[in-house]
Amino acid sequence: MRWSALAAIGSALLAQQAHAVPHILLYTRTAGYRHESIPTAVDTITGIGNGTLRVPSGSLDASIADLRWQATATSDQAAFRNATYLAQFDAIAFIMTTDIDPPGAGTVLDDEGIRNFATYIQNGGGYVGIHSASATLFGAPFYGRLVGAYFDYHPQIQSVSLKPVATDHPSTSKLPGNFDIQEEVYNFRSDPRKLPSPANVLITNASNYQDPGVNPQGFRNGTNGPAPHPLAWYREGRLLDTDGSTDASVRGGGGANVDPSGGPGRSWYTSLGHDRATWQQDFFRGHIAGGVGWVLQSSTVKSNNATALVGQPGPSSSGGGGASAEASSTGGSASSSGGAGATSRSASGPAPSGSSSGDTNNAASPASPHSALSRMLLPVAFIYIVIFGAPVALL
Ligand SMILES: *[C@@H]1O[C@H](CO)[C@@H](O)[C@H](O)[C@H]1NC(C)=O
Ligand SMILES: *[C@@H]1O[C@H](CO)[C@@H](O)[C@H](O)[C@H]1NC(C)=O
Ligand SMILES: *[C@@H]1O[C@H](CO)[C@@H](O)[C@H](O)[C@H]1NC(C)=O
Ligand SMILES: *[C@@H]1O[C@H](CO)[C@@H](O)[C@H](O)[C@H]1NC(C)=O
Ligand SMILES: *[C@@H]1O[C@H](CO)[C@@H](O)[C@H](O)[C@H]1NC(C)=O
Repeated sequence: MRWSALAAIGSALLAQQAHAVPHILLYTRTAGYRHESIPTAVDTITGIGNGTLRVPSGSLDASIADLRWQATATSDQAAFRNATYLAQFDAIAFIMTTDIDPPGAGTVLDDEGIRNFATYIQNGGGYVGIHSASATLFGAPFYGRLVGAYFDYHPQIQSVSLKPVATDHPSTSKLPGNFDIQEEVYNFRSDPRKLPSPANVLITNASNYQDPGVNPQGFRNGTNGPAPHPLAWYREGRLLDTDGSTDASVRGGGGANVDPSGGPGRSWYTSLGHDRATWQQDFFRGHIAGGVGWVLQSSTVKSNNATALVGQPGPSSSGGGGASAEASSTGGSASSSGGAGATSRSASGPAPSGSSSGDTNNAASPASPHSALSRMLLPVAFIYIVIFGAPVALL
């Protein structure tokens, strides 16, 4: 009795130890339009990761049902000037970040940050892009490849019917066959399926929506390639590779002239998420959880691979576990969307911005207390059982 109880406690603790809690950085800086839904997005991703926000099993892929992660939100670009700091994360998410187009007019990372971010991806780090993340870093073409494609334009926000085209991915496996969503339907400057490491399209538009000829405003008509029109996708490996023919239309001189290749990790992008209300819906939470969870389960990061170069050390890598560091959010970037808001070439929509709410800075620090706690609890539990016997509940 006693020994089986001990074994139960021991194996429970060891099982907990065997799963390093991956860490994800949520980057929310905006140079252009700032979406009102950013704080909701941060809370949602943080809450699903720490287990306080439960997505019903009917909306959540089984492969990530037990996965936990720790999220740190920042809008401070200084976080990207510290390569050691970035290397602690298993993935970096761009949460509705925005540039001012054209390149150079306003962006969310300086050249040093861009270089460090490229190196992070080359070292196997994961990437998650949400909505206007594709309207970011126009001056650094490698970033366009990392996302898959740069945003071009969107018609008016409206109720559209969308449908998953692939359901063999954790981010779409539980989506209804068709779902209605109040959304901006993004068009992109290039076809993400034409990259050397092609995007696997997950979601498309299922029904007609209003996309009036926007040529008078100079739009590019999108470059969607053949149907289906891509609205969410994933890529794995060679994330930064280019064959020169598929880059987005913008080739700026920015990005500190870095044009890196490689990137063995995972990238997941969804163009959805403009509206705050969308983030309250279970199907959408399941979509996000599946994308984030899938990226964090990459074999190229430390939480799953003892010899990986970036991420949170798992139990088998001896590393000096979890250097503590906290990105101090500087309370949001200047929301200077100004003139850009007038046309929907800006990633936002015609609405004027105005709301430059500071970042929710409630995210946990990257240091992982979990495995250290398990290591302490194991001998404590052992001594307790030897002296007092196993707790009745376990017998
Ligand atoms: C989990 O995340 C939510 C959403 O950000 C936060 O409000 C809550 O305090 C977090 N709880 C723990 C235990 O970390
Ligand atoms: C960079 O980040 C590491 C890890 O978080 C931290 O220990 C170090 O102090 C930081 N360096 C600077 C210059 O902030
Ligand atoms: C947009 O499409 C129209 C109609 O097909 C075409 O005449 C026009 O040249 C296109 N504009 C651009 C910028 O590609
Ligand atoms: C998506 O929307 C466009 C524009 O309304 C339409 O031409 C296309 O057929 C739709 N469906 C797919 C699967 O792309
Ligand atoms: C683990 O990380 C190392 C170092 O980056 C890499 O060479 C190896 O391919 C990774 N293993 C897997 C299974 O991805």
